[in-house]
Amino acid sequence: MKFFVDTAEISEIRELAATGLLDGVTTNPSLIAKSGRNILEVIAEICDVVPGPVSAEVAATEYGQMLKEAAVLRKIASNVTIKVPLTQDGLRACYALSQEGVMVNVTLCFSAAQALLAAKAGATFISPFVGRLDDIGQNGMDLIADIVQIYANYPNIKTEVLVASIRNPIHLIEAAKMGADVATIPPSVIKQLYSHPLTDKGLAAFMADWAKTGQSIA
Ligand code: E4P
Repeated sequence: MKFFVDTAEISEIRELAATGLLDGVTTNPSLIAKSGRNILEVIAEICDVVPGPVSAEVAATEYGQMLKEAAVLRKIASNVTIKVPLTQDGLRACYALSQEGVMVNVTLCFSAAQALLAAKAGATFISPFVGRLDDIGQNGMDLIADIVQIYANYPNIKTEVLVASIRNPIHLIEAAKMGADVATIPPSVIKQLYSHPLTDKGLAAFMADWAKTGQSIA
């Protein structure tokens, strides 16, 4: 399973890239706004740090303008993935861009029908938002199961299932059990993945016993 990080904060991206865990990055207009930085500058900096796919989202909702914005974003670096919303115009843009060999991430997916359309439009990634479905009382992970199953029925579908809006480690583990291709994870949840109280307890005991030996290794 590929791990992407869902942030536009360059310091967080640098820290995670150094761990070797990072396969890519996703951003969205809200994350760019939170960073307080210019989108072109921040995407360029991220692409310098991470060689994998870096999603940059168009801000337009109309097809022609989406393609104009995509043209600007594509020039930043070869690993820029154009993110488009799951609308009729967005899928038309997805089709046009994918025909040109551009990586496209179709975002704001909330149904299996939408995921099927994105695959037919040639999306490189489909981003179903599990946390936001949970928020309205639906089971976000059921959507991942449906999409993984549907895509598996058609070996000609190359679109990767990119689980988005992840809120906790359980989302990630469930997605991995279902065979989702990618998870885009907030930095706070990546930190949670390392933790287990028995690891902390065991390490404290080992360190206490080691101190009693009076030895040093290096
Ligand atoms: C994915 O690409 C989105 O940026 C993201 O996962 C949205 O997550 P949120 O629902 O926590 O805002």
